[in-house]
Amino acid sequence: MRFINRRVELKRLSQQLALFRRGEWDNTCHLALLGLRRTGKTFLLKHFLDHLVDHDAMHTVYVDVSKIANSPRDFARSVVLAALQSATGSRSEELLDLALQTEHQELIRAIDRFQRVTLESADNVTLFNAAFTVFKELSDRKWVVVLDEFQDILALERFRGIRSIDALFRAHVQEITNVFFLISGSFPTMLKKWLSDQQKYIFSHFSVMHLNELTRDASFELITSRLGDIPHDIKLQFYTHTYGNPYLLSVFARQYRLQEQPVADIFKEQVFDSSGVIYNYYSYLLDESLKLARGEGVLKETLKVMSLAEDDLRAPEISRRLGKSLEEVHAALKELIRVDLIHCQDRRYLFRVVPFRYFLRYRYLGLEQYEYERGDHLQSQVAKLLEAYNRTSSELGRAKEFEVYYHVANAQGKQLWSIRIPRFRTLEKNVDTPHGEIDLLAVTRRGKRWAFEVKWRNKACGIREITSLLAKVDADRYIVLSRKGFTSAAHVKFDQQKNVTMVDLAG
Ligand SMILES: Nc1ncnc2c1ncn2[C@@H]1O[C@H](COP(=O)(O)OP(=O)(O)OP(=O)(O)O)[C@@H](O)[C@H]1O
Ligand SMILES: [Mg+2]
Repeated sequence: MRFINRRVELKRLSQQLALFRRGEWDNTCHLALLGLRRTGKTFLLKHFLDHLVDHDAMHTVYVDVSKIANSPRDFARSVVLAALQSATGSRSEELLDLALQTEHQELIRAIDRFQRVTLESADNVTLFNAAFTVFKELSDRKWVVVLDEFQDILALERFRGIRSIDALFRAHVQEITNVFFLISGSFPTMLKKWLSDQQKYIFSHFSVMHLNELTRDASFELITSRLGDIPHDIKLQFYTHTYGNPYLLSVFARQYRLQEQPVADIFKEQVFDSSGVIYNYYSYLLDESLKLARGEGVLKETLKVMSLAEDDLRAPEISRRLGKSLEEVHAALKELIRVDLIHCQDRRYLFRVVPFRYFLRYRYLGLEQYEYERGDHLQSQVAKLLEAYNRTSSELGRAKEFEVYYHVANAQGKQLWSIRIPRFRTLEKNVDTPHGEIDLLAVTRRGKRWAFEVKWRNKACGIREITSLLAKVDADRYIVLSRKGFTSAAHVKFDQQKNVTMVDLAG
């Protein structure tokens, strides 16, 4: 797979490498590459190690910390093995065998000790520290060491004796001068805070480099490299549907090559269908991010309200729609920012990954139609309801009325639930009447009043509920939506009544 662009980032890495090579280096020169998931961090780092580092002058080590931080023992063994393999150019997995190939007596002794004593020891701090043995023993050589998914190193703090990973790691960063450490992480907000926290020992050893989505030109370059020269407007569609995310671009390009179809259809298949690659990836991303955050329930509800809204909302609006206090909402937003699902701009809350919003909409509501535009304000409209209207959202019951509002507002001038929805002059949610609240009251431009009521219970809606709605408010049309359908008595009484429409959401 051809590597595309990233010229700015590669230049920066190369400049830093040149300083390292010349020895104009101290322990504050290391780099941290931070970027949201699937922005191409691993690809960039591997490309750098493979093509820009002079292998005659330096050894390179790449480890994915998320795979080796299962225990201090696992971490130490994996780093030592990767370093020995790099020093010898061998793929053997035998530590001592590899050490012997170096013919370096001190190292051979150290590895023998590591294998016999350290790996057998139960002391987690000793184990962690031993990970750096090879770099220390082969101190006359230069190393470029990439620790990918570095945030996962914090998992080692669960082990007895390890109180602060950053204190332990810092000790090595300070002592070792023959290693250029390059760390990378997918939770940029958390990692950046960690790296810039003056209370943490690691502070000041790493400069931060951000990796963003690809620019428009770079996205075009990637598409051309995968698909050859295709028309400009199709390239543009790729870009607008992926926002320049290289992973999405790659998946969409692969799909397009298999079957030339409109990019919007690929988007639908990939993002809205549970067999889609992106659907599954986003589900995983959601789970992984929420795992790192506190208060899963309220976070999900907040995301839901945000994903359903047409515009980017401010905190008071989210609080109103959720029916939760501003304080609670602020705490939830803070957590969502911390795990990089959202960010805040001009006091409005936005999704970090734009297509994710559509995925959430679909997942929470079962909505499939959308308009996807890129502009100053992203505009979207969702008009059609899947047959199983929102069955999954009952656990988030509170936001139901809001959903009805949302569907009705978006269906103006169109069909919804087999009803022709007119254009309304006003739409009001949760309207208080002397006889109780109604979910939605909409008034057409000609002054006709439409009342909507949702019955979200586990039994069929009967005559009594419908009669009570008619008594609550004086309207021209009554639309009753029921999750569990209607009793036959209700059908007998109201089927012929023109101003009452019963919508069975189950069927
Ligand atoms: N510069 C690039 N040129 C071509 N394709 C790229 C580039 N960067 C990323 N990609 C594509 O995007 C995919 C994801 O990239 P990569 O795995 O490097 O992202 P990442 O940021 O490391 O993701 P994660 O957060 O999941 O570790 C790659 O498999 C590749 O298909
Ligand atoms: Mg990666």
